[in-house]
Amino acid sequence: MKVGVLTGGGDCPGLNAVIRAVVRKGVQEYACEFVGFKDGWRGAIEGDTVPLGIPAVRGILPRGGTILGSSRTNPFKQENGVRQIKENLAKYEVEALVAIGGEDTLGVAAKLYGEYGIPCVGVPKTIDNDLSATDYTFGFDTAVGIATEAIDRLHTTAESHMRVLVVEVMGRHAGWIALHSGLAGGANVILIPEQRFDLDQVCAWVTSRFKASYAPIVVVAEGAMPKDGEMVLKDATTDSFGHVRLSGVGEWLAKEIEARTGKEARTTVLGHIQRGGTPSAFDRWLATRFGLHAIDAVHEGDFGKMVALKGTDIVRVPIAEATARLKTVDPALYTEVGVFFG
Ligand code: F6P
Repeated sequence: MKVGVLTGGGDCPGLNAVIRAVVRKGVQEYACEFVGFKDGWRGAIEGDTVPLGIPAVRGILPRGGTILGSSRTNPFKQENGVRQIKENLAKYEVEALVAIGGEDTLGVAAKLYGEYGIPCVGVPKTIDNDLSATDYTFGFDTAVGIATEAIDRLHTTAESHMRVLVVEVMGRHAGWIALHSGLAGGANVILIPEQRFDLDQVCAWVTSRFKASYAPIVVVAEGAMPKDGEMVLKDATTDSFGHVRLSGVGEWLAKEIEARTGKEARTTVLGHIQRGGTPSAFDRWLATRFGLHAIDAVHEGDFGKMVALKGTDIVRVPIAEATARLKTVDPALYTEVGVFFG
């Protein structure tokens, strides 16, 4: 059986570990052949392929990024996109597709399977951990580790100057990275997209922290928004994904805190550092298990499914179920963490 593999959306640590596991088990146990489609759905639409076999996956387990390249191309937003994919699958004699991606990439896989019967198996990835139907996505643990180390380092420079340090982390819709790294790094305030924040409250927390002779660390997810409607409207912009948010919320927050508390504030935006580099041991473990289970699903002809982590087990769920809604932070969990604020 010939299997196509692609990685779509924003890259994340662990993608190569999945590709390696799929190919190694596929070749060794199921005598599969593989073809890699370059840059996610773009390669499938344009017939842009790379050879994929044991030699191609040698040594890639600890490497970040993806040997297949990635893009946010969506065949449903292109004229004849789906038709071209069907033609290329026939041309390369591909009988099954393993699509490794987040909400958008897997949303496409769900539609290709549901509406066109294209045999797809999905593997969930994203540093944001916001995909439903899986307890964790690989990439998240690495991103949280990087953000936590940054917060640890920022504590000492914040204390030396008795400044406020605002740390902006990724997360457009979900505050998982902010919540986990903020808690692990001992932040005094954690602001997430799920809950609009009250600037007066944030400033009160910051002030109380100084009173206790500590320099406060404020962790803010990039999609977090203040409560004040007018302020939001004045400073909000539409990002490249078409979502309205405060672009540069970290900088914005530091300026507001400085003006309102009279304390010096600085911002660190972690950005793509959270996505780059070698995956953590946990992410290599999870990505490898996902890959092994994905090729099992292909071998069994169990299509339209996504592999997922439930507790410590890898299970299969309909891809459509995983992409129907985002997994966001539960307000009760946020409240639980909130005892450390201020
Ligand atoms: O993959 C998700 C994500 O990391 C978001 O947290 C972030 O907003 C976005 O990707 C950035 O994407 P890009 O690299 O395309 O700017």
